[in-house]
Amino acid sequence: MFSRAHIWLLLFLVYLLVLCVFAKGKFNVLFLIADDLRPTLGCYSDPVVKSPNIDRLASKSTVFYNAFAQQAVCGPSRTSFLTSRRPDTTRLYDFNSYWRVSAGNYTTLPQYFKSNGYTTLSVGKVFHPGIASNHTDDYPYSWSVPPYHPPSFSYEKRKVCKSEDGTLHSNLLCAVNVSEMPLRTLPDLENAAEAVRLLKTMKDAETPFFLAVGFYKPHIPFRIPVEYLKLYPIENMTLASDPDVPKKLPKVAYNPWMDIRKREDVKALNLSFPYGPIPKDFQLRIRQHYYAAVSYIDAQVGKILQVLDDLDLTKETIVVFTSDHGWSLGEHGEWAKYSNFDVATRVPLIVYAPGVTSPRPWPGGKMFSYVNVFGKARERFDEGYLVRSVVELVDVFPTVASLAGLVSVHHCPVPSFKTVLCTEGSNLVHLLGRHERNPNHQAYAFSQYPRPGDTIRDDSDLPSLANITVMGYSVRSTDFHFTLWVGFDSSCFYANLSDVHAGELYILSEDPNEDNNIYNEQVHADVAMLKLGTRYPWTESLKEHMIFLGKALKGNWNL
Ligand SMILES: *[C@@H]1O[C@H](CO)[C@@H](O)[C@H](O)[C@H]1NC(C)=O
Ligand SMILES: *[C@@H]1O[C@H](CO)[C@@H](O)[C@H](O)[C@H]1NC(C)=O
Ligand SMILES: *[C@@H]1O[C@H](CO)[C@@H](O)[C@H](O)[C@H]1NC(C)=O
Ligand SMILES: *[C@@H]1O[C@H](CO)[C@@H](O)[C@H](O)[C@H]1NC(C)=O
Ligand SMILES: *[C@@H]1O[C@H](CO)[C@@H](O)[C@H](O)[C@H]1NC(C)=O
Repeated sequence: MFSRAHIWLLLFLVYLLVLCVFAKGKFNVLFLIADDLRPTLGCYSDPVVKSPNIDRLASKSTVFYNAFAQQAVCGPSRTSFLTSRRPDTTRLYDFNSYWRVSAGNYTTLPQYFKSNGYTTLSVGKVFHPGIASNHTDDYPYSWSVPPYHPPSFSYEKRKVCKSEDGTLHSNLLCAVNVSEMPLRTLPDLENAAEAVRLLKTMKDAETPFFLAVGFYKPHIPFRIPVEYLKLYPIENMTLASDPDVPKKLPKVAYNPWMDIRKREDVKALNLSFPYGPIPKDFQLRIRQHYYAAVSYIDAQVGKILQVLDDLDLTKETIVVFTSDHGWSLGEHGEWAKYSNFDVATRVPLIVYAPGVTSPRPWPGGKMFSYVNVFGKARERFDEGYLVRSVVELVDVFPTVASLAGLVSVHHCPVPSFKTVLCTEGSNLVHLLGRHERNPNHQAYAFSQYPRPGDTIRDDSDLPSLANITVMGYSVRSTDFHFTLWVGFDSSCFYANLSDVHAGELYILSEDPNEDNNIYNEQVHADVAMLKLGTRYPWTESLKEHMIFLGKALKGNWNL
């Protein structure tokens, strides 16, 4: 017979078990977002860069080798992946509207976690600031407490970069002595410190957390600690392998990278509009600074992951590392995002899920100890598990929600403006494990870029909504990249697919850098097959037509 004491003990044990399963059974999420980072990382086979901390994370993760942003500019891309809707559904192609007002009251990724009992925290640039997130980073909808912004960011574009003669300028190349900066720090150093502080406060909290950390680099200006330049001696730097504007590139596809031209050091080069080019020695220095900025971010990621280990949270925290889009480092004669080229749309996407992408560490076990970027040897880590299937940033929301065990997010109906919670992406969980593969995974990514006209203007990089007259819709498979530039009426968000302004087709096996556009006259006959106008551009039918047309065009060359 059980005594009363025994029964109480039993009940207490059951209570503990329930606590373990339900309270601590939930995974935390650490969501790391870089700004303007293409996959210039060791774990993406870049031979030059030093990114040991991100590489170490990758070694325990699934690494999506072909992940693409939906539009290669910060605001639209962030709103898109944080709501899991494409820009045609968020109706944000510039920085000047808030989706809850202009499109639909969509639930965001952090909001979904918040509504499931998580404490959701934002550090740095997660949502695009300003109108695009109602000047609040979508607080209070998305976040449990007001988002953190590093005070030193207010000096980001000021004259704080020292020239050789000791005078201060607002330069593009801005490697600085941190102790001489206003506030003696830099935004991403403050971000990392705040992330560490928040992790410590969440360690013993009753709720699980969703902590998003948005780094400001390697976005321009390259205001970074000067010591990171030492990692990349200028004599070791090389130019892009395809530094010229491709001959068969339609004008509408080109963008004149105006933002770097506004920096004092670039202005002094007296570059011609719209093509430049930038003198070769300056090109090498831009590339050097970009690489240095990547190593600087890598060190900040390393600090945060180290604390995850120290707090014994690595075994119960999902870590995602990604970027809003890429950046052309001189490829096609461009120095910016703002296009549909792979260099602008392709992003790193690394997902660590304890027990899924690698065995859970034992309590106290170390997985992510900080690696010194300045260490002598270039550290090598296991590759991680590479997924070469094409995926998209809109896939992140349903994937992370599913990994954390939240109720899965349904695919959006068409149209979906009135549906607050749904996804236009796919749940990638079946691609994560090392054993399961799903050969039926949709291997296409869709991106788009707006233009104010067919010729190159000073607002071609980033036209405001009212000036958009052409939209470049792009479909990327593992073997081709096809873009159709079509008429677009921004007053009613109407894309007219029978009004074709230009096209691009790249066969990636022969032309991985996308320099030889083989879309030509012959193609117009095929495009005529596509007499289709649609009210809601990115419907399934547009996607199907783009894929169909891309394949048909590819077939024309018997490729
Ligand atoms: C939008 O959704 C939020 C919750 O997700 C709700 O609090 C708010 O009232 C909604 N706004 C409108 C205009 O429906
Ligand atoms: C945007 O912010 C303003 C001012 O804080 C607020 O009054 C308004 O309700 C917010 N919009 C939405 C959709 O929440
Ligand atoms: C930064 O400046 C301080 C004093 O101005 C100097 O002591 C330090 O060596 C400098 N650091 C670097 C990396 O140049
Ligand atoms: C620069 O290149 C030289 C020659 O290839 C190489 O030995 C050296 O390690 C490189 N330096 C760095 C910092 O990568
Ligand atoms: C650019 O133009 C200015 C004024 O015309 C001139 O003083 C300067 O030397 C030029 N710089 C270069 C790099 O050609």
